[in-house]
Amino acid sequence: MSTQINFNGVIDETAVISVFDHGFLFGDSVYEVVSTLGNNPCFLDEHLRRLRASAAAIQLEIPNSDAWFKEQIEKTLAAARNPESYIRIVVTRGTGEIDIDPITCDKPNVIIYVTPVKAYPKENYENGISLALVSIKRNPREALNPGIKTGNYLNNVMAKMEARKLGAADALMLSPYGFLTESTTSNLFFVQAGRLMTPSLECGILAGITRDIVLKLARENGLLVEEGRWPGEALDNADEIFLTGTLKRVMPVTRLDGKPVGDGRPGPVTRKLARLYEARVASLVHH
Ligand code: PDD
Repeated sequence: MSTQINFNGVIDETAVISVFDHGFLFGDSVYEVVSTLGNNPCFLDEHLRRLRASAAAIQLEIPNSDAWFKEQIEKTLAAARNPESYIRIVVTRGTGEIDIDPITCDKPNVIIYVTPVKAYPKENYENGISLALVSIKRNPREALNPGIKTGNYLNNVMAKMEARKLGAADALMLSPYGFLTESTTSNLFFVQAGRLMTPSLECGILAGITRDIVLKLARENGLLVEEGRWPGEALDNADEIFLTGTLKRVMPVTRLDGKPVGDGRPGPVTRKLARLYEARVASLVHH
């Protein structure tokens, strides 16, 4: 097992980035996190598509083809020799002058990290995790649209710190207009009277790839699904809450602001969708 870094196509586990890289200086970068199953990247096409959409949204041109990314990821996975890996793809604006204007940056830097995956403990899935509704707000779409997966995550970093201070595992953020959005690195779902609800993209959230799959699975399985806008209080009557993300997959939330959610145990809808999601991921790998 090892950590390997692919820096512009060259694997070097001691790779370092220039202090003049605008990704470092200004968070001027985009990224994706991809998980593996059987050490094969899961939903790589979807992640590459979102990476390109994020790059386009900040007018960053990625010079490499999807085939190039796939080849480099494969090469780096092979070098790392992990049973399962965490893959992080970062594309920065590149090195330039210490000036906010990206015009001085010559070319993007592409970094692919491959490191042994740190799976969440089984106990988290069996008992659920705790969340806190924090005071820091998700960025409004009119500022840095949360739909763009940039390297500027300070908003989420601060939310995470606040959650920890409140004794919770992770944070739930509202939009500046008071609507539920998402957690720091995952999307929010809740269940009320058998209906599955999740904040709509208009609330200012990342269009999660896991979220998308879970929504599809829910609809295919006859669940009533609603994407919409809800204030934080909507969660007071939630029977179930869960988060979705590449690393968390489908993660039950059983405490919110120190109070139990529903009966305080992962609920039937959460467990069913978790099962369906795991089956979906497994089916991809075995083809
Ligand atoms: N985060 N919302 C935010 C703010 C995220 O950063 C992520 C992913 C998600 C879930 O998206 P997906 O299902 O496509 O992973 C939602 C990754 C895992 C991370 O930054 O580590």
